[in-house]
Amino acid sequence: MKRGQKKLVRYYFVCTGKDCLKRGAKELLDSLEQELPTISQFNTVVIKTKCIDLCKRGPLLVVDNVCYEKVDPKYLKKILKK
Ligand code: FES
Repeated sequence: MKRGQKKLVRYYFVCTGKDCLKRGAKELLDSLEQELPTISQFNTVVIKTKCIDLCKRGPLLVVDNVCYEKVDPKYLKKILKK
């Protein structure tokens, strides 16, 4: 990267409400922290959100205005490569 050139930032939102935590949000966060540095070409920021009222569809991951439901960390790489 050339001096003065800015790298884009991509934001990842993970619900850490009670129900999503029960459904695997903690494992999802751990996997995100592991996978992002190796996969993403962007600077990345992971943001933990409160409940967003989709509890039965958790764990939830929101990237670029797309909400991924019932995210299994096994398939995280597929999502991150999009
Ligand atoms: S706890 Fe995650 S949407 Fe409600």
